[in-house]
Amino acid sequence: MSDFSAVDLICAKRDGQALGPREIAWFIDGYTAGRIPDEQASALLMAVYFQAMAPDELAAWTKAMIDSGERLDLSSLDRPTVDKHSTGGVGDKVSLVLAPLMAACGAAVPQLSGRGLGHTGGTLDKLEAIAGWRAALSNTEIVSQLAGVGAVICAAGAGLAPADRRIYALRDVTGTVPSIPLIASSIMSKKIAEGTAALVLDVKVGSGAFMKTQPEARRLAEAMVTLGEAHGVRTAALLTGMDTVLGLTAGGALEVRESVETLAGGGPADLVAVTLALAREMVESAGLDADPAEVLASGAAMDVWRAMIAAQGGDPDAELPRASVVETVDAPADGVLGRLDALAVGVAAWRLGAGRARKEDPVSATAGVVCRAAEGDAVRAGEPLLELHTDDESLLPGALAALEGGFEVVAEAGPPRPLILERVTAGGRA
Ligand code: URA
Repeated sequence: MSDFSAVDLICAKRDGQALGPREIAWFIDGYTAGRIPDEQASALLMAVYFQAMAPDELAAWTKAMIDSGERLDLSSLDRPTVDKHSTGGVGDKVSLVLAPLMAACGAAVPQLSGRGLGHTGGTLDKLEAIAGWRAALSNTEIVSQLAGVGAVICAAGAGLAPADRRIYALRDVTGTVPSIPLIASSIMSKKIAEGTAALVLDVKVGSGAFMKTQPEARRLAEAMVTLGEAHGVRTAALLTGMDTVLGLTAGGALEVRESVETLAGGGPADLVAVTLALAREMVESAGLDADPAEVLASGAAMDVWRAMIAAQGGDPDAELPRASVVETVDAPADGVLGRLDALAVGVAAWRLGAGRARKEDPVSATAGVVCRAAEGDAVRAGEPLLELHTDDESLLPGALAALEGGFEVVAEAGPPRPLILERVTAGGRA
């Protein structure tokens, strides 16, 4: 590969010029291989943060990240492959219900997932609340589970987009995570390398999400849809609300329990609605003929869930662990819960032990928050509004502090917040 100068690339990007595909490939390859040092990569990332990237540049950056590793070959499967990716939210346990549901609809779902960082929980951390369940699978195990069970949720192996692993770790410590081109290339390089033929993106919008406003979320969705389609992956996105908690729980075992209730035909209405909206998109992009609501009601998704957990060493019948300390926060007045802020609940769950501050930190399977009421529910003064679950009583004050100002009891309910805000496809938005 021809040699460029890292300083020249940094200066060009700093001054708002677009980098060419060969320069980008040289940089990504050099940084992944350790030839370009962190300080130069940090400077370039910060320049991208301020100057963004032109569409061609973003496409070349993403391609270079994909080319840094292997691509999973799912061509031996006889079902259509389709996956979902969420940009992350509080109480977002949709994957746990959706992956088995889509397999029960006839798809193969290769859900290669990550761990949580900060106030949003990671899917793998949640599933690890199930005794014996194993996140690390080989590529052969992934393909064989997809052929047999139809769904797999596991860790993305080290061979997929290794450039992202290095760049994401550097972004995390250099203030360059919240950049639309860097987020889009990070997510899409992994999803394209995973080998799925179709992808539905759940781009969360609101206080508990990366993207706080709908225009920002739309720009991220459009960038990701364009990247997916350019690589032959049928890609669509839904923008969904994340100003309040999704469902009634945030934290590992608590969220697994709620997901199992949903697979059994119960579960909170908002969780069911978002799951079914995404499932309908996935059915359409995979070209399947199935009604996800009927399949969920039939119990077939629960059968796949049980098989999926057992295939990865977990016992679907095992009791989920429970926290030794449960503290309640009571409603301050009679009325209606007018606002329950996703970020406040997410930070409280994190401080109780459900999340991590650094990627090497452990998470507690039992910690988290249970909402005894959702926005719009009637509440009575002195009755529990929230339960804080932890195994370490000393963590309670920090969690209680996070919840200060995070909820409001009002006299009359306002209009419910819309859950599904917008749909973005290659053909435009609706
Ligand atoms: N998730 C990712 O995988 N990458 C990002 O940059 C942000 C969220």
